[in-house]
Amino acid sequence: MTQTLIKNGRIVTATDDYTADILVRDGRIHTIGKDLDIPSVPQHDASGKLIFPGGVDVHVHMETPMGGDVYTCDTFETGTRSAAFGGTTTIIDFAQQNYGETPKKALDRRLAAAEPQCCIDYGFHSILVEATPEALSEIPDLINQDGVSSFKMYMAYPGVLMVDDAAIFKTMRKAGIHGGMVNLHAENGTVIQVLIEEALEQGNPSPKHHALPRPSILEGEATHRVIRLAELAEVPVYMVHLSAKEALDAVVEARDRGIPAFAETCPHYLFLTKEEYDRPDFDPAKFVMTPPLRNHECQHALWRGLRFDDLQIVATDHCPFCFNENLYGINKSKQLGKDDFSKIPNGAPGVELRLTLLYDGGVKAGKINLNRFVQVVSTAPAKMFGLFPRKGTIAVGSDADLVIFDPDTRHTISAEAHHSNVDYSLFEGREVTGKVEKVFLRGQLIVEGDRWLGSAGMGQYQKRSASGRIMS
Ligand code: URP
Ligand code: ZN
Repeated sequence: MTQTLIKNGRIVTATDDYTADILVRDGRIHTIGKDLDIPSVPQHDASGKLIFPGGVDVHVHMETPMGGDVYTCDTFETGTRSAAFGGTTTIIDFAQQNYGETPKKALDRRLAAAEPQCCIDYGFHSILVEATPEALSEIPDLINQDGVSSFKMYMAYPGVLMVDDAAIFKTMRKAGIHGGMVNLHAENGTVIQVLIEEALEQGNPSPKHHALPRPSILEGEATHRVIRLAELAEVPVYMVHLSAKEALDAVVEARDRGIPAFAETCPHYLFLTKEEYDRPDFDPAKFVMTPPLRNHECQHALWRGLRFDDLQIVATDHCPFCFNENLYGINKSKQLGKDDFSKIPNGAPGVELRLTLLYDGGVKAGKINLNRFVQVVSTAPAKMFGLFPRKGTIAVGSDADLVIFDPDTRHTISAEAHHSNVDYSLFEGREVTGKVEKVFLRGQLIVEGDRWLGSAGMGQYQKRSASGRIMS
């Protein structure tokens, strides 16, 4: 039997806020109480600190192909270690079907890559790039046996990942009746392609122009369209990386009618705006992610949505490509698009910064309270994707995934200090208050200040129950 005692921390869950001791036994929370004293059990003093349930990041792309031989630059090992330093103890990555491959094969391939490497617990969403009869026929087993209850599809990136409405609808119908949910990257991909070609023809190849062919209205249109399809198919629907007010309006309209439509946004949409594309030279390439950064009106709408639960989750969409070609190679670098912004690999890093940014810019800034903070970074993701109550809360019987957080330390964000392979930060130089001090994964101390105490392969695959069945 292994035991650990965490003393005098201020325990914050999505609903509670009190000071107590936590006794961890064999990886789970065994007792929460006042003045617990158990001789010879290792103790951690958390006086003056906050204790959160470990973060659950439901949108990350580790060692992932993004078209051809272009890959994200974090491995499962480096990406999950980076996540741990940021207070995230569970990720949900993607098992992306290759053309001609079944989703189950894709899952097996990703499980084999993740298992020896992951430093924190992990699950997978399935990505379908073609809804063949064979692929559709695997959905019930994926949900009920493999613990994969969410299916992502792209309405963008024509010729690479995009599927048509028929494929989405077929997948929705199949997933819905078996406890699944469909996650959408909602942008109108074919119209965006027309606008990209026009921009290039007009002699606008620099990354400054990344946002122009991807206007908010095309995210709003796709979001509205796909929610209507979900309504017809009677399946819960989840919008990934929602960025535009027009898209949020479509989610709100559906939710007001009682449709189970859900959405996540990401820290970069909450804290950055399209003015980043005015930076000189190739620097805007760092901010080439899709959807692009939006204007202040959209940002204001996202915060409103987060406060009033029209947005349920903050996830990172960690999709790192180095800015410079370096030891990870050109195929993991933004420099691929030096002469043509449409060739810049889409995606941005951030898996290590989610809790700190949202604590500083959300809680300290008075935009959300502490309970809501825990809700959107841990509890709602766990509930939405079938991991609760094992993950996402601090309760007797739950996994002892715990973050001891210093609410007062001020520090400056820098790529130098983070643990990802990526060579830049979207938030370089930003001063923030609040720092992850210690992280426990199933009771084991894996992060202590700057020290890494975990190991590759200690993360466990999490089979998930039904997705999208939460109503608050
Ligand atoms: O630019 C982004 N978001 N890249 C990751 C792939 C996706 O679209 O989710
Ligand atoms: Zn996407």
